[in-house]
Amino acid sequence: MATSSAALEDGVFKGRIIEGVADVTPTVINAMARAPNARLREVAEAFVRHMHAFAREVNLSEAEYDIGVDFLNRIGQATNDHHNEGILFADAIGFSTLVCLMNNGNQGATETAAALLGPFWRMNSPRTDNSGSIVRSPTPGPELFVSCAIKDAKGAPIAGVEVDVWQSSPVGLYENQDDTQADMNLRGKFVTDADGRFGFRSVKPAGYPVPTDGPVGDMLRAQKRHPYRPAHIHFLGFKPGYKTLITQVFVDDDEYLESDVVFGVTRHLVGDYRRHDNGAPPAAGVVAPWYTLDYTFVMEAGEAKLPVPPIK
Ligand code: BEZ
Ligand code: FE
Repeated sequence: MATSSAALEDGVFKGRIIEGVADVTPTVINAMARAPNARLREVAEAFVRHMHAFAREVNLSEAEYDIGVDFLNRIGQATNDHHNEGILFADAIGFSTLVCLMNNGNQGATETAAALLGPFWRMNSPRTDNSGSIVRSPTPGPELFVSCAIKDAKGAPIAGVEVDVWQSSPVGLYENQDDTQADMNLRGKFVTDADGRFGFRSVKPAGYPVPTDGPVGDMLRAQKRHPYRPAHIHFLGFKPGYKTLITQVFVDDDEYLESDVVFGVTRHLVGDYRRHDNGAPPAAGVVAPWYTLDYTFVMEAGEAKLPVPPIK
């Protein structure tokens, strides 16, 4: 909204005395209208307009306002180097998936391999040779052999993509949530070869509940929602010249595919985790059943930019 000249005196915002409910929104927007950054102006104004409209629409009571502010404060208080309640909240209300799909795959016009980052990506995963194992401490569960290709939009292989991989254990815990796992267990960093391929050995991931001991857990219980994510492996592909690909590939027989608590599942991301009960094992000492996953990712041309790590 344009700043009214009456509200400016010698370039200083003078504001006005609020005469009633109808004055509040325009006065606040006026107060913010001189921010030199045009995008900040646009986003902040829309945010205030929608927040005020929301309060009007639901006729927000003072008690409900207090609950909302307390909820916000508790999200901050629950966030630390090892846990990110803010991301969890954005995920649990579908906000991350909305923003992800708006910014990838041409607003839904084309299929995208992108999905939300989640709160468990860590920087500096151990560099691991192609076909190497990401099992870094004894982790019982069916063995899994993953083989992936990364291609560009025209189908040409992309060599030299750095790919971070992270997943939960077969009991549904990431290593940073579980003292029994070695540091960086089930995490690794790979680089695609000349054919745009990388692969690794692991164990089949399990579905798991998102952390429910904070305000997001209270929200889920109040809404009678279960806290489960379907089993998946996370991937983050980085190479200058390509839009950083952040995604997950889901286990196809998981009971929570259609009710992921954080709404991360799109059809394209359901993988073919194939069970093998007999035949020649892919490596010495592997006992049946073992699983294989073959998956091809597409990276779009664009800016290579790493996200801020949600945890250390
Ligand atoms: C995850 O997949 O790691 C995750 C995503 C959203 C919320 C909690 C966990
Ligand atoms: Fe996950």
